[in-house]
Amino acid sequence: MKNRIILGIIIFVMFFSLTGCVFKQESVKKRTVQSNSNAVVLYFSATGTTKKIAKKISKQMNSDIVEIVPKEKYESKDLDYNNDCRANKEQNDSKARPEIKNKIDISKYDTVYLGFPIWWGTNPKIILTLLDSYDFTGKTIIPFCTSGSSDIANSVRELREYNSKLNIKDGKRFSANASDKDITEFINSNKTDNSNEEVSGVKVLINDKEYTINLENNDTVREFVAMLPKKLTMSELNGNEKYIYLDSSLPTNSSNPKRINAGDVYLYGDNCLVIFYKSFDTSYSYTKIGHIDNLSDLGTDSISVEFKK
Ligand SMILES: Cc1cc2nc3c(=O)[nH]c(=O)nc-3n(C[C@H](O)[C@H](O)[C@H](O)COP(=O)(O)O)c2cc1C
Repeated sequence: MKNRIILGIIIFVMFFSLTGCVFKQESVKKRTVQSNSNAVVLYFSATGTTKKIAKKISKQMNSDIVEIVPKEKYESKDLDYNNDCRANKEQNDSKARPEIKNKIDISKYDTVYLGFPIWWGTNPKIILTLLDSYDFTGKTIIPFCTSGSSDIANSVRELREYNSKLNIKDGKRFSANASDKDITEFINSNKTDNSNEEVSGVKVLINDKEYTINLENNDTVREFVAMLPKKLTMSELNGNEKYIYLDSSLPTNSSNPKRINAGDVYLYGDNCLVIFYKSFDTSYSYTKIGHIDNLSDLGTDSISVEFKK
């Protein structure tokens, strides 16, 4: 009997420590997933290696993905680089611009993750066809490639020389078996580009009345704004705040503000959004989201709140 009780306790403890692990991993995973409606993964892949990486990037970023399809498909004989194959001929011909079969709409994207294999130390010529065919000015191009061993640096240098007006980042070479972690690191290292970007143009409607919200310049706000539009029903608490637990967690950088002012919008923990409608001193820590101007007393009922861009 005693043994059974001990066994029961062990199973109980193991279950909760394991599920605890799963929950923790889940929240880490969520943190890396952003809605990226302004980014696209655009790739050319002759034998599927770059395609695999492109799909992983797009999946992690939750972004669109578009293949650059050659009008004339590259068959194995066209890629037989030990012989005088079509790919070799194109790479040796500075004027070669292999045709692209599909129309590609890049107008709605600010960031283009551009993927290709390395052919003879650089990008395939079809990538130049792409740059000739569409206007990439004002967009950020983040190249990535796969290869037997060659790096991407030479290709990036040549692409910058080809069109010096373009904003082309250093990019990264992936091996065919790149891990999810490699992909995450690549995405995160390119995220810093807009890490200082101020977010503006967000409106908030409380019970259908429009207010001005001044947002903080931090990662929490940038990820929150990426989730918009959002219509929420926020519950009453303590006669001074309305709150809701969001579906996904946001980055935090919490501290104790000492004093809360009516109209302050904070994140409590990593997913509880709070709007304060009374001023008071606090001993709790929060991450600041922003401040709503001229917020009136919101009463004791739940409120409907709409955040939109
Ligand atoms: C014509 C041709 C030239 C290549 N040149 C290089 C090269 O210079 N350096 C290298 O590391 N790999 C080279 N490779 C290997 C490819 O870059 C590699 O297999 C790549 O992952 C293929 O990507 P894909 O499956 O998306 O087409 C070459 C392959 C071909 C077909």
